[in-house]
Amino acid sequence: MKILLASSEVAPFAKVGGLGDVSAALPRQLATLGHDVRIVMPFYKKVRTPERAFEEVVSERVIAMGPHRVSVTFLSSTLPGSTVPVYFVNCPALFDRPGVYGSGGDEHLRFALFQWAVLRLCQELRFSPDVLHVNDWQTGLLPVMLRSVFAWDQMFANTRTLLTIHNLGHQGTFSADVLSEIGLAPARDLLHHDHLRSGRFGYLETGILHANALTTVSPTYAREIRTPEHGVGLDGVLRGRSDVLFGILNGIDDVEWDPARDPHLAKPYSADNLAGKVACRAALLSMAQLPDRVGVPVFGIVSRLAWQKGFDLCVQVLPRLLVRRRFQVVVLGTGEPKLEAFFRDLARHFPTQVAYLPAFSERVAHQIEAGADVFLMPSRYEPCGLNQMYSLRYGTLPLVHKTGGLADTVWPVDLARSQGTGFVFDHFDAQGLTWAMERALEVYGTGQGSDRTRWQAIQQRGMRLPLGWSHRVGEYLKVYRGIAPHAA
Ligand code: ADP
Ligand code: GLC
Repeated sequence: MKILLASSEVAPFAKVGGLGDVSAALPRQLATLGHDVRIVMPFYKKVRTPERAFEEVVSERVIAMGPHRVSVTFLSSTLPGSTVPVYFVNCPALFDRPGVYGSGGDEHLRFALFQWAVLRLCQELRFSPDVLHVNDWQTGLLPVMLRSVFAWDQMFANTRTLLTIHNLGHQGTFSADVLSEIGLAPARDLLHHDHLRSGRFGYLETGILHANALTTVSPTYAREIRTPEHGVGLDGVLRGRSDVLFGILNGIDDVEWDPARDPHLAKPYSADNLAGKVACRAALLSMAQLPDRVGVPVFGIVSRLAWQKGFDLCVQVLPRLLVRRRFQVVVLGTGEPKLEAFFRDLARHFPTQVAYLPAFSERVAHQIEAGADVFLMPSRYEPCGLNQMYSLRYGTLPLVHKTGGLADTVWPVDLARSQGTGFVFDHFDAQGLTWAMERALEVYGTGQGSDRTRWQAIQQRGMRLPLGWSHRVGEYLKVYRGIAPHAA
C-alpha cells in the first residue's frame, strides 16, 4: 500500500509529546511489512541540526492560499532506524521559529499552509497515496481539501483519508473569518453550517466530518469521546460517525524502549535479569542528588505539566504524604508555570525526598523510566499515554487514574491472585491518588526479602507484556484496507 502520514510532530526531528513517538514508530513498523510509507512534516527550526543531512527534492514553489502567495521548498531525509522517507515543508516565514507550536498567533495559517503543501508535494512527486493518514487538528483539513480545492486532480481519485485523534483537548478552533484567508472559502458548503454561522471554524471538527475513517488511540478513549463528559463539545459529531470510529491502542517502539539495549542507562537489564535496574536506580538518585536508601521507593514523573495530566492532585496530596511516609519523587517536565513552581517549591521543602528537573530530555526520560520504582501518571484524561507502557517495559510499576488508554494498559495489582501490573485509582480526587500511593508503598514494603520477590513478580509480568507496534500495526492495516479496498 502507498501510505502518506502527515503529522506536526515526528520524533526525533520534532517532538512535544506522544504524537511525535507514534508518527515515527507506526511508519517504521509499516515499512518492515513492505508498504510504501512516507511521512511529511513541517521544517521547524529545531529540525535542522549539524549532524542531519537534508536533500532538496523540490525547489522553490509558490503556493497560492487565499490572498497569500507563500514560497516553499521541499526537503527530504530518512527516518532513523528505517528506510522511510521523511519530507519536510520548508517555509521559513512560518516554521523557522524556536518552538513547534504557539508563537505568533498565526497557528491557523501555519498549519493550513502545511496542508496545502502536503498535497502540492504529492503532485510534484507524482505520488498518489492510497491512504493519507492525518493526525490531530494540524492536519484535520486535508480530507475536505481533497473533496474541494484539490478535487479536480485525478491523481487523488483513489486517495482515502484516515484521521487519528490523539487528543480531543486540542481542536484548532478559529474564527470563521479565517476561511477565506486559508483558501477554503470554496469548501464552505461542505463545512459545519451552524458553527460557521456562530462564527467559528474547527480544523479537527472538519476532519471528523470528512475523513473516510477515524481512529483514536485507545478503545476506552474511543468510547469516552462519544459522551458529553469527555467529548469536549464534539461528542455529537463523533456519535454521528460511530460506524467508522475505531479505538486502536498505541504501541511502543521496541528498539528505542528496551532496557536490555538502552544506551542511556547505567546498566542494561531484562525481565530475566533485573540486577541492572538497581544500578539504574542508584545512578538516577545520584544524578538527582538524592540519597539512595534501602526500603524507600522512588516515584518517577516524566510529563508535560499540563491540566490534562492531573498534577493538581499532586499539589493536594504530595506535601502531606511526604511528611507521613518514606518515599522519593523525581520529576522531569516543563509546562504550566503554576505546576513548575509547585514542584520547585516541593523540592526546596523536601530536599532529600524530591528532585525537580525543569527540562525536556530524552536521556533523562529513559533514566527515570529505568531508575524509578513506581511511575506516577494521575492524568485527568489520557487518550492513550505512552509513558505507562514504557514503565511497564522497564519494570517500573505504573500508578494511574483509570481513564482512557491508562485503563486499557494497566491492571491493578491483586496479590491474592498473582495478577496485575500496577496501581489504579478510579476517582479523580485527592483521596483516590492518596489511596493508590499508600497501596504502592504497602506492596513495596521493605523492598527486601519476600517483599522484593513479590515486587519482582509484578515487574516481570509487566515487562513481558506484548506492547510493541508489531502487535498493533495489523489493526491499522485493517482500517486502511477498509477505506481503500482497491489497494489491499
Ligand atoms: P502526551 O502526548 O499527552 O504528552 P504521552 O504519554 O503519549 O503523553 O507521550 C509523552 C511523550 O513525551 C513520551 O515519550 C515522554 O517520554 C515524552 N516527554 C514528556 N515530557 C518530557 C520531558 N520533559 N523530557 C523528555 N521526554 C518527555
Ligand atoms: C496525545 C495524548 C496521549 C497519546 C499521544 C499519542 O498527546 O495526550 O495520551 O498517547 O497523543 O497518541
